Amino acid sequence: MKVSATSAAQVVAQPPSNTTSAVPTIVDVDLGDRSYPIYIGSGLLDQPHLLQKHVHGKRVLVLTNTTVAPTYLDKVVSALTHGNPNVSVESVILPDGEKYKNMDTLMKVFDKAIESRLDRRCTFVALGGGVIGDMCGFAAAAFLRGVNFIQIPTTVMAQVDSSVGGKTGINHRLGKNLIGAFYQPECVLIDTDTLNTLPERELASGLAEVIKYGLIRDAEFFEWQEKNMPALMARDPNALAYAIKRSCENKAEVVSLDEKESGLRATLNLGHTFGHAIETGFGYGQWLHGEAVAAGMVMAVDMSYRLGWIDDSIVKRTLDILQAAKLPITPPETMTVEMFKSVMAVDKKVADGLLRLILLKGPLGNCVFTGDYDRKALDETLHAFCK
Ligand SMILES: NC(=O)c1ccc[n+]([C@@H]2O[C@H](COP(=O)([O-])OP(=O)(O)OC[C@H]3O[C@@H](n4cnc5c(N)ncnc54)[C@H](O)[C@@H]3O)[C@@H](O)[C@H]2O)c1
Ligand SMILES: [Zn+2]
Repeated sequence: MKVSATSAAQVVAQPPSNTTSAVPTIVDVDLGDRSYPIYIGSGLLDQPHLLQKHVHGKRVLVLTNTTVAPTYLDKVVSALTHGNPNVSVESVILPDGEKYKNMDTLMKVFDKAIESRLDRRCTFVALGGGVIGDMCGFAAAAFLRGVNFIQIPTTVMAQVDSSVGGKTGINHRLGKNLIGAFYQPECVLIDTDTLNTLPERELASGLAEVIKYGLIRDAEFFEWQEKNMPALMARDPNALAYAIKRSCENKAEVVSLDEKESGLRATLNLGHTFGHAIETGFGYGQWLHGEAVAAGMVMAVDMSYRLGWIDDSIVKRTLDILQAAKLPITPPETMTVEMFKSVMAVDKKVADGLLRLILLKGPLGNCVFTGDYDRKALDETLHAFCK
């Protein structure tokens, strides 16, 4: 695993956003012949060569949505075509929202690609948050059995999590992300300036995943976040760039060790089993994914404490940091124990009737993925958080 050197205790200096020659920070995702770089920095959309060197062929299809297109589509088209007149770029502007992450929308993408007579040597570009990234990746995996694919994530959630690691897909009426493929991009380009237009709730939602990396495997990063959460919330570009870099390094490392999720990669789901129950029980769209994960992480941490696997200082620090990020620390009041149990029982992580959970164990920054725990602790946690 190659990752660029980290300077743990301080924020990495990034040039101001109007500097077009800024040198990006690069995190390499090491997957043999499918390895790829993640470029991170301010003003990267003003550096056409970064994108252009990863475009194969002369035809590009940009997938984006009605919210992101007005602000960023022209910029991306210029980056793709600047000094490169032979490249032709087309775009599909999809409706915005998780509820459109489905087969109907995917078909619109294929309609456009086929009507435009794109061939195997085209490149698909995802411009947007995780919904666009997941759909575009899956479209690229399936179109003509696989075409070149680039990610330009524009939310914190997408920059620190969904654009890295190659999980792509769409939702089915009966569940989230049930149809998809592992498909890696040619590169991920993270222009941190795009976060300036992100709504506050979306910013915080993404930070839940950042906090997650600290809790499951990177105590030093967690400590850095404890000091720098106000800077992150204030969108300090240096703090954001550092948090994104460190998150990508953590995710890249886990993915390169366990691409297809046979074990280690599952630890990235800390809080997600409880969180998924909140998202399902409460109806998608009420709470953002990161908000549900935040409350879910509190529940996983509570249960770890009840099992005697962590000490109470970790519980307190988790609550404090989530509150500093203005994230919820309890599930919605309408959630009942039965709602949690029924969703968790059909969760993908149940094997042989045993619900496997990611729980913290040991000093800060350590976790386990296990079904080997006292059932009483799970019951106690559920009752402690539900009326
Ligand atoms: N593939 C993976 O490994 C993985 C991991 C985590 C999440 N996901 C998926 O990601 C999705 C959630 O991603 P998300 O949180 O980015 O949601 P999202 O894609 O819906 O984006 C959130 C909102 O922000 C808007 N937006 C995007 N960029 C913006 C910008 N720069 N300025 C202003 N508004 C902007 C979007 O249009 C949308 O309204 C879910 O579908 C989830 O399943 C996938
Ligand atoms: Zn998540």
